[in-house]
Amino acid sequence: METGFTVEQLRTAATDAVRAPSLHNSQPWRFRLRDGGIEVLLDRGRRLPATDPSGWGARIACGAALFNLRLALAVAGTPATVRLRPYPTEPDVLARLVPDVPRRPTPTEQMLYGVIPHRFSNRAPFWPDPVPADVRWRLGEAARAEQGWLEMVIGVSAVNAFAEVARSANRVLDRDPAYRAELAEWVRSAPAPDGVPAGAGGPLGEPQDLLPSRGFGGRSRAPGRDFEPEPLVAVLGTAGNTTTDQVVAGQALQRVLLTATDAGLGVSMMSQPIEVPGAREALRLSLGRFGTPQMVMRIGYGQPGSPTPRRSVDEVLDVPVGQA
Ligand SMILES: Cc1cc2nc3c(=O)[nH]c(=O)nc-3n(C[C@H](O)[C@H](O)[C@H](O)COP(=O)(O)O)c2cc1C
Repeated sequence: METGFTVEQLRTAATDAVRAPSLHNSQPWRFRLRDGGIEVLLDRGRRLPATDPSGWGARIACGAALFNLRLALAVAGTPATVRLRPYPTEPDVLARLVPDVPRRPTPTEQMLYGVIPHRFSNRAPFWPDPVPADVRWRLGEAARAEQGWLEMVIGVSAVNAFAEVARSANRVLDRDPAYRAELAEWVRSAPAPDGVPAGAGGPLGEPQDLLPSRGFGGRSRAPGRDFEPEPLVAVLGTAGNTTTDQVVAGQALQRVLLTATDAGLGVSMMSQPIEVPGAREALRLSLGRFGTPQMVMRIGYGQPGSPTPRRSVDEVLDVPVGQA
């Protein structure tokens, strides 16, 4: 009797896994089959040394890919049991999935899986329409279902205080030539399987903007097309900040992003205040709760957009010889 996953199951699920978000669309993941288990590995060769020296962002991205992988397997009727960081001596193996008892997918799994191809980072201004309370609650539930938490920054003065921290973090990062060079390296003006396409980077930041934007080098805005004056800012966090917590955070992030996509919302991520330690601490204190902020999101109703490219699945699979 077959007791493990097959290469075909790995290949199919990995097609969905690679749709996960990653810093500058660096896609720092690999997937392999070992002793019947599917394993998610951090690809050190695709880490961003200047932007992400600790590997936090790469582990968030791999966690998000892991969440898609879990969904794909569950929707195919072969859910997985997951062990995070299964081998103490192999820290880059972030997760191992083995087959659980086959069952039909739940409606939530089907819903989340169905929107994987439609999710994208929407960096354009959103409409001013508020996000209703029940939808905010759904987003919080999505984070909690994956052992994360989601805190909305409520009220003009709290949003202004957050914006101050975020803008100052952005200035700190922008002062570092290595950070700026790395960012420029990942902006793509011609079609490419990774990096941020110039057209997806959002409009150029302007002095009147409340929140900072990553300088992906977009177009300047037409007069009057400003960002929403009272953005919905949400902070996703986890109880701790071990490398395992960061993989947990990635899964919670992806569940929130997919839930938002299903609710017709646009989301852009803003991690400058997470990347600068002082800003992250200020953010943690301002939220007045235990745990560690892992990602900040701007959420709202936006214009349609399209998903960004990914490398082909064959480039990210390690399969036993003879089974490719
Ligand atoms: C850990 C992490 C940090 C990110 N930080 C930012 C950010 O500060 N600004 C931004 O515009 N996008 C940010 N992103 C979004 C990525 O740029 C985006 O996921 C990637 O370019 C792929 O595009 P997609 O989300 O449209 O699939 C971040 C994503 C991750 C996973």
